Amino acid sequence: MKPISVGIIGSQFQADCHAASIAMVRSEMQVVAVASPTGNHAASFAHRHRIPEYHMDYRDLLADAAIEAVTITAPNSLHCEMTLAAAAAGKHVICEKPLCVTLNEADTMIDACKRHGVLLMYAEELLFTPKYLKAKQMADSGAFGKVHLIKQSEKHFGPHSEWFWDVDRSGGGALLDLGCHGIAFAHWFLNKPKLRSVVSHLGTYVHGSKTQADDEAVTVLEFDGGCFALIENSWARRGGMDDRVEIYGEGGLTIANLLMGNALTTYSEYGVGYAVEKAPTTTGWTYPVFEEAWNYGFPQEMQHFARCIRGLEVCQTTGEDGRLVLEAVYAAYASAGMGRRVQFPFTPTQPLPIAEWLSRREA
Ligand SMILES: NC(=O)c1ccc[n+]([C@@H]2O[C@H](COP(=O)([O-])OP(=O)(O)OC[C@H]3O[C@@H](n4cnc5c(N)ncnc54)[C@H](O)[C@@H]3O)[C@@H](O)[C@H]2O)c1
Repeated sequence: MKPISVGIIGSQFQADCHAASIAMVRSEMQVVAVASPTGNHAASFAHRHRIPEYHMDYRDLLADAAIEAVTITAPNSLHCEMTLAAAAAGKHVICEKPLCVTLNEADTMIDACKRHGVLLMYAEELLFTPKYLKAKQMADSGAFGKVHLIKQSEKHFGPHSEWFWDVDRSGGGALLDLGCHGIAFAHWFLNKPKLRSVVSHLGTYVHGSKTQADDEAVTVLEFDGGCFALIENSWARRGGMDDRVEIYGEGGLTIANLLMGNALTTYSEYGVGYAVEKAPTTTGWTYPVFEEAWNYGFPQEMQHFARCIRGLEVCQTTGEDGRLVLEAVYAAYASAGMGRRVQFPFTPTQPLPIAEWLSRREA
């Protein structure tokens, strides 16, 4: 199979992750261009990752006929316009989470990709995380009997870029930014049952001086078929990134701590350089991870998307999945705003997910 030629839109945190991950599956996918509007970021990114072309305007990247697909690693509020432009240019789209900011945007993106005959692939790496895949394989083989509870949590001390804290650009706080992983994970793990209801508690406990966004979120999702998920997210958790899963059935359980469970228990007076995403220090006791991208599943995710484009695999994580996650996030914000459980389907009343909470909280 000829490698899929990809252009990356964006040149910072997640763009680096995509470029490094695609390099690990280079026989199936290769990055041929990058686009980013700021300073010489695109040029230095291209230099760092040995990418032949770079552009300041992503529309110039889309004009390149050699490019078959794009990955979108720009701020959330730009995912929709970029997807529409890419689809119109005949490019398959790999879009970072969250799919976009509103359900109208999600519908427009899904429709545009269908009309233009391109795939809309929703980049949710937890479906490819080897440790979590092992948990699903055991569950599917009956190891735990009927699974009735999934717990997933993802936490850190807050995002690295300003735009995340600005709810008009991000659409929400920890619940949207990190909860979208847990919601997608639980839905997939349970083989995609219908959502029944959601109840969520949110608060801004630590970062109130710089954002309106929630920095703590606890969400309970109920699914058809007698199972539920507890999703915990935080932008107020010290000590670097934390990502873990617990699965419970009547016949057993499994517990997976993705980062500290895959790390070396380490003590250093001098520091170890890099321990884990968003860890501010590496002196004293730390838990340095290894093969971080692979253990998260990013290269495997890109390999899957390459095979989907070539028609060799059926996409496991689509625009429709991203839309379902966003609907759940909207409903969770509404639940926190109303202080009660919310049923699905949920029709938004506000132009941004977090406004379902803020508008009621402030009322
Ligand atoms: N899957 C994951 O685990 C994961 C992790 C981090 C981020 N993300 C997602 O990836 C996306 C990007 O996040 P990030 O952490 O890389 O943010 P970032 O702030 O580090 O990078 C954003 C990039 O977008 C670029 N950009 C802004 N406007 C643009 C435009 N008009 N055209 C082209 N590029 C533009 C910026 O120049 C920058 O390079 C977000 O949607 C985020 O939620 C996903």
